[in-house]
Amino acid sequence: MTMPSIGTALAWRDAARTLISANVPPQSVTWGDEAEPPGLWDTDPPAVGETAVTVPRGFIALANAVVWHNDPARFALLYRVLWRLRDTPHLMSDRADADLAALRQMEKNVHRCQHKMKAFVRFRDVGTPGDARRSFAAWFEPTHHTVEPTAPFFARRFGDMDWRIITPDVSASFINGQITLAAGQAKPPLPEDASEQLWTTYFRNIFNPARLKVKAMQSEMPKKYWKNMPETAAIPEMIENAPARVQEMNRAAPTIPPLRAAKVLKHVATLGTVWSGSPDELTAAISACTRCDLHCNATQAVLGEGPSDAALMIVGEQPGDQEDLAGRPFVGPAGKLFDQLAKEAGLDREKAYVTNAVKHFKFKPQGRRRIHQRPNTSEVLHCKWWLDAERAAVKPKVILAMGATAALALTGNCSDMAGRRGVARILADDTQLVLTFHPSYILRIRDPGERHAAANDLRRDLALAHRLSLKPE
Ligand code: URA
Repeated sequence: MTMPSIGTALAWRDAARTLISANVPPQSVTWGDEAEPPGLWDTDPPAVGETAVTVPRGFIALANAVVWHNDPARFALLYRVLWRLRDTPHLMSDRADADLAALRQMEKNVHRCQHKMKAFVRFRDVGTPGDARRSFAAWFEPTHHTVEPTAPFFARRFGDMDWRIITPDVSASFINGQITLAAGQAKPPLPEDASEQLWTTYFRNIFNPARLKVKAMQSEMPKKYWKNMPETAAIPEMIENAPARVQEMNRAAPTIPPLRAAKVLKHVATLGTVWSGSPDELTAAISACTRCDLHCNATQAVLGEGPSDAALMIVGEQPGDQEDLAGRPFVGPAGKLFDQLAKEAGLDREKAYVTNAVKHFKFKPQGRRRIHQRPNTSEVLHCKWWLDAERAAVKPKVILAMGATAALALTGNCSDMAGRRGVARILADDTQLVLTFHPSYILRIRDPGERHAAANDLRRDLALAHRLSLKPE
């Protein structure tokens, strides 16, 4: 029986059903893949017999994965187990059975290959301006025949664009919402695109030289996938420079101020509800802020920066470790990703006023490290005093709030960022507000496909806020 390379699962199921109903024993069948010589019944399939066969659900799930393995023996092995199930109904739960163990291993390999495909396929933009739908293509070399079973995942994930995944085995395309499978192809020339730089920047930023484990890294991201992934170009250099960077990090490790036992007096009641000082006094007033306890352990208050009449104000959460030391917003890993995406969105960071909802770094000491802690609602509300004062001084036309803390400070609601992002809304003073993801959130997403999609969303939202800020009144 020759199995086609497209529709393999259905073809195997139909063939196996026909054979078992006709009581054809495993030793009388020769199975093969399309490219192999024809088997016993290629020209003379058996007539359907009378035997009704009930197959356990566990076997169906197993077969649905194993058929995509690249071992030519898989079809015969599956059929042998199917045959044995007739007389041994509990075979599926026999952990010592060698046939089943071999099938389970194949199932694992196929699932692993699907996982790698989801993680390492890199789409390039092949569309032309003016096309109704954006168009992307990717080249990938899967170990097993996983294009067909994985295509629905990509259709769900990237349903709003046309795409093709070209492989030497089978190629899938998704055009106008329809998946089509075709024979494999040779590698086509694909353009590099803007996201290549993003992936490389992202990869450099999440790389921690102090935690370098080359073997673990290569097992998670096997070398065979590297050549089609832009970010991997940076790996050899990062490995080479890791020891020097660790030394540098140790030298630069922050000294943690002693935790004060005494609580800071609550100033809220005495400070009033609206900043009434002049814009010129604001910088000094924020630097001296003791409205909540966060100033106790932070190195300094990190002030907003940018033109005092900027049309666009960008609000983050709070300074991170590097910002706390440098005294400037968004200069650490999140800032690097922000800069990269802003540039790609056509936004010159220098032209925007960049600030945070909370001005002091909140952290928990852990050894020599300071671990970021999200500010609580009370801290955000105390600091809103300064954010409101900055808004009154700068009078931006548009505010881009990155992350849940900024959304809380500006809308009183920090829920459902994914559902609320990406549209302009009007605040009480007529300022337009766009909510979006925080760059740190994107850096924390482990699934590369999800991370890529979230970065695209942030880039789009940056472009939207930028466009709105340029519009004449
Ligand atoms: N995250 C923020 O929200 N702000 C910064 O300044 C840095 C990281």
